[in-house]
Amino acid sequence: MRNGNPSVVDFLETCRNRVDAELDRRIESSSASQRLQEAMRYSVLGGGKRIRPALSLAAASALGQDSDAALVPACAIELIHAYSLVHDDLPAMDNDELRRGRPTAHIAFDEATAILAGDALQALAFEWLAVAPGVETSARLTMIRELARASGHRGMVGGQAIDLESVGKSLTLAQLETMHRHKTGALIEASVRIGALTAPNISERSLNALTRYAKALGLAFQVQDDLLDIEGNTDIIGKPQGSDVARAKPTYPALLGLDGARGHLSSLLSDALESLQDFGPEADPLRAMADYVVARTY
Ligand code: IPE
Ligand code: IPE
Ligand code: MG
Ligand code: MG
Ligand code: MG
Repeated sequence: MRNGNPSVVDFLETCRNRVDAELDRRIESSSASQRLQEAMRYSVLGGGKRIRPALSLAAASALGQDSDAALVPACAIELIHAYSLVHDDLPAMDNDELRRGRPTAHIAFDEATAILAGDALQALAFEWLAVAPGVETSARLTMIRELARASGHRGMVGGQAIDLESVGKSLTLAQLETMHRHKTGALIEASVRIGALTAPNISERSLNALTRYAKALGLAFQVQDDLLDIEGNTDIIGKPQGSDVARAKPTYPALLGLDGARGHLSSLLSDALESLQDFGPEADPLRAMADYVVARTY
C-alpha cells in the first residue's frame, strides 16, 4: 500500500471528516473573548491532515473496538497538536508566516493572541479528555496522564526546547533521535496508545506491540517532515520550504544526507510494520497509515 492507495486515502478522508465535524461542533463559537475564540477556531479548523486522530481511531479498530469512543480523545490530541503548531511558528521559535497554506496565527491575529490561543487549546484538550463519552473513568484518567506526559517537558515541549537549544549546533545521531522522539514522536505515540486504551481489556502484549509501532512511526514522521523541508514545495506543504535550512536546524538530512535520511526512513517503516505482525487485517488501517506517513508529500 502506498501514498496514493485508495484505501488509505479513503480511510484518512473518513477520519478527517469525522474529526473536523466533531472539532467544529465542540469548539464553541462564544467565549470570554471573541478574538481569542476566533484565533482558536482559526488554528484548529484551518485544514490539517488529522494524522494523529486518524492513528487513534485506527488503533481502536486494530483492537476490534468501535472507534466512536476514541473520537473525543482523538480530537483532544489534535487540540494539543494545533496548539504546538501555533507556538512553533511564533517569532521566538521558528518565526514562520505560513501554515496549512494560510498566514500563521500570529500573522492573522497578533502575537499575544496566538500565544493565548495556544494556551487555551492546551487547557481545552484536557477538559475534553476528562469528559470523553463512552470511556471508563479509569481509562480516562490514564489517557489524561498519557497526554499530559506526551505534551509536556518529558515529551513535545521538552523536544521543542532541545530543538531551540540546538540551532546552529551539530548533534550526534543519538541526540537528534532524542530530540525527534520528544518533539514529534511523543504525541504520535500517545495518539496510538490513547486510541488503544478505549479497549477495556487490552493486553500488555498488544499495548507493547502498538507502542513499538508508534515509536517507529513517530520518528519516521519527523524524518519525512525534515525531508519535505528540503524536497517539498511551499505550495504543496503549505508551510515555508527551506525553513529548517534557513534557521540552521539540526535535521536528519543535515546529518545523514538525503539518501541517508531516506534509508533511515525505510528501516523505521519496516520496524513499524513488523511490530504489527501479530495483528490480523483489523490492523490494516495502521499499516496503511505507516505507508502513508513515510510517502506523504505534505
Ligand atoms: C507538522 O505536523 C508538525 C510536525 C510535528 C512535524 P503535521 O504534518 O501533522 O501537520 P498538519 O496537522 O497536517 O498541518
Ligand atoms: C515541529 O517541528 C514539532 C512540533 C512540536 C510542532 P517543526 O518545526 O519541524 O514543524 P513544522 O515543519 O514547522 O511543521
Ligand atoms: Mg520547530
Ligand atoms: Mg516549525
Ligand atoms: Mg519541519
